[in-house]
Amino acid sequence: MHPEEIITIENAHDSGQFNKKVPILKGEGAVLYGYDGKPFIDCVGGHGVSVIGYSHPRIVKVICDHLQAHRPITCGHFYDESRAELLQLLVGLMPQGSNLSRVFFCNSGTESIEAALKFAMKYKKNVKDKEILGFKRAFHGRTLGALSITFEPRYRQDYVLIPGVKHASFNDIDSVKAMMTENTICVILELIQGEQGVYPADPKFVKDLRDLCTQKDVPLIFDEVQTGFGRTGKMFCFEHYGVTPDILCLAKGIAAGIPMGATITTDKIMSAVDTGSHGTTFGGNPFACAVGVESLKIFKDEKIIDNCNKISAFIFPELERLRQTYPAIKEVRGKGLMIGIQFRGKVADIVKKMQDKGVLVLTAGFTVIRLLPPLVISKGQAKQVIDALEAVVKEIKE
Ligand SMILES: Cc1ncc(COP(=O)(O)O)c(C=O)c1O
Repeated sequence: MHPEEIITIENAHDSGQFNKKVPILKGEGAVLYGYDGKPFIDCVGGHGVSVIGYSHPRIVKVICDHLQAHRPITCGHFYDESRAELLQLLVGLMPQGSNLSRVFFCNSGTESIEAALKFAMKYKKNVKDKEILGFKRAFHGRTLGALSITFEPRYRQDYVLIPGVKHASFNDIDSVKAMMTENTICVILELIQGEQGVYPADPKFVKDLRDLCTQKDVPLIFDEVQTGFGRTGKMFCFEHYGVTPDILCLAKGIAAGIPMGATITTDKIMSAVDTGSHGTTFGGNPFACAVGVESLKIFKDEKIIDNCNKISAFIFPELERLRQTYPAIKEVRGKGLMIGIQFRGKVADIVKKMQDKGVLVLTAGFTVIRLLPPLVISKGQAKQVIDALEAVVKEIKE
């Protein structure tokens, strides 16, 4: 079997992802290099994982030091200094007065969602016919619980999913009110829906949702797996809205690419989760935690979010200029360096053409190009992305 066939399942679900066929040897900062040494400016960022960039010297050092000191990679439930430090750092990032003080570590975004759903189920253990309220266009992962609240029918078909899930219309509080019942145990949303096209939530909608959930004592879950860790120009996207969740789901950018996820909640909700009713073998292992700690320190020391905002302030007006010049581009959406460029037709060909020009981009649905570059991308590199996109859009026009 040719090695590429091994990834056919991945390729099959998203016909736009030509860039999966680029064999990558190494990465530095915002650039990936092929085996032939060809550089690519990386606006895929490992699906938004790479926030502090590839091969950051401090991350390389912390990994080498950890192993050289024979520190364990996993150590089960025993006390570990790095885990304790990461817990402290994460909780320290939560807004004062939010009561988001209890953390469950796992290994991926989808697992952080599973934990959030299970915590909500425990908190609402007295509700017999439990219902979960999610949103149309939502993406929350591919394990059966997370998939049940994911909307896209292509991802869901043929699987046995959990019952009681409803999908309201995004940014429509009346739709939420119409679907919420006394059996609703939680509401879950992405503040910017990433996978299906990069759609930001309206501030008023989020505030109304918060009020409604508080009124009814229904846990509000923010899935910040993609929007967390600086991606949108704040450490967490909820900071743009001035609204905090009862449960927060994190992963992707948390530990510089080492698989890790976290579910953060309040004491009130966590105390409903009886010991042993949820757990993990690898989650919160010393190795991932040591990398997570260093990554968060780099965020602060190197003002990663300032760079995100600086590049964002350059890139959005440039994209708007392209939109006004080239009718193929319908709309530009997003925040920080989570960017969706809505085209009037399918974008698979654009992904391929960008790749030929040395820029790797993602799709979001069939008609949106998504940019999730490492937040350390330079202005010069961002300009190269814009130039490549302009050249490609010009070619389409001709
Ligand atoms: C918003 C959101 N939630 C959950 C997930 C699932 O994360 P993972 O692929 O790490 O399981 C993703 C992945 O893209 C995501 O974007």
